[in-house]
Amino acid sequence: MKALVYHGPGEKAWEEVPEPTIEDPNDVIVKIDTTTICGSDLHILKGDVPTVEKGRILGHEGVGTVVAVGSGVAKFKVGHRVVINCITTCGTCAYCRVGHPSHCESAGGVGWLLGHLVDGTQAEYVRIPFGETSLHSIPQGLTDEEVIFVSDIIPTGYEMGVLNGQVKPGDDVVVIGAGPVGLAAMVTAQLKSPRRIIAVDLDDFRLAQAVKNFGANRTVNSGQPGWIDQVKALCRHGGADVVMEAVGIPPTLEAAFELVRPTGRIANIGVHGAPVTMPIDRLWIENITMTMGLVDAVTAPMLIELIEAGRLNVRPLATHRFKLDDMMAAYDVFGHAAKNDALKVVIQA
Ligand SMILES: NC(=O)c1ccc[n+]([C@@H]2O[C@H](COP(=O)([O-])OP(=O)(O)OC[C@H]3O[C@@H](n4cnc5c(N)ncnc54)[C@H](O)[C@@H]3O)[C@@H](O)[C@H]2O)c1
Ligand SMILES: [Zn+2]
Ligand SMILES: [Zn+2]
Repeated sequence: MKALVYHGPGEKAWEEVPEPTIEDPNDVIVKIDTTTICGSDLHILKGDVPTVEKGRILGHEGVGTVVAVGSGVAKFKVGHRVVINCITTCGTCAYCRVGHPSHCESAGGVGWLLGHLVDGTQAEYVRIPFGETSLHSIPQGLTDEEVIFVSDIIPTGYEMGVLNGQVKPGDDVVVIGAGPVGLAAMVTAQLKSPRRIIAVDLDDFRLAQAVKNFGANRTVNSGQPGWIDQVKALCRHGGADVVMEAVGIPPTLEAAFELVRPTGRIANIGVHGAPVTMPIDRLWIENITMTMGLVDAVTAPMLIELIEAGRLNVRPLATHRFKLDDMMAAYDVFGHAAKNDALKVVIQA
């Protein structure tokens, strides 16, 4: 089969590799119908994730059709359409049982296996360990494009942003970063009826998208001087009830420390590669709560139900479409997403 193989920093190829086979009774083999590329794949290609070995097939998002199941798998049969969870979950270890498969012990302590520690979804076929608990059925009538983003970024925005940030009706919510993950946080924050969702980014196309399709009702471009005061002026209490950081660099988390109001919450979503100094000497007396984490994606089944019920529409994230054989071109577009006015690329068999 063909797959996107990582060959070390800066090196990748769409090349012929052996098809996966059942290695464990809990395995499921899925034929990929639709996949996509994540910012994390770009981080891997930059060499930022040294745990990824050369020869690894990338990708942790996908929709596909079951083509083989191990003897321990009862829930899925050949022919079932499934969404692949970006986090592998055994469902029985101490972490999985309390809803934190991001630390699944059976997966070796890190639930992010696919396209990281085992071969991933940017391929014609993928082996899903613990398939029974790491795949979700797709309700009849939903297209691949309607559910593909439930693999990763929609649960990421919802769990790391909205749930960790405890968004409540009437809150003023600021989301710094209107990339796919920030937009996912905005579209799911709407479910909690906040008063304002204020999108902050440097890119005017993304800010316009935030308002048009993802529920933001105010935008501020953080390239302008005085932008922090502009955001504060849009909040009722001189600052935000909830600030979500969806970029992953020190200046934007430092801005969150400025923007939050006393008793507010900072929900960090971004993956950071450098330490950030926290002004705890000021924040302690303001009763600020700060959260961070790797997504668990345990809300994926509920999010699929909301999509089926017409309460959540994440299709506008798909801005560019490719065939699997055009994987390298899809990487070119996604690698320069801002220049190409791209949010997510959808890659179909
Ligand atoms: N916690 C998790 O489990 C988890 C899961 C997936 C992704 N992430 C992380 O979420 C973050 C966002 O992911 P993404 O795919 O949307 O990334 P992205 O790079 O596509 O989007 C980031 C956005 O931030 C904007 N930006 C850059 N500098 C800025 C600044 N100074 N002020 C305001 N905006 C700025 C960019 O214009 C861009 O629109 C990344 O750090 C990613 O690694 C975390
Ligand atoms: Zn991802
Ligand atoms: Zn587990």
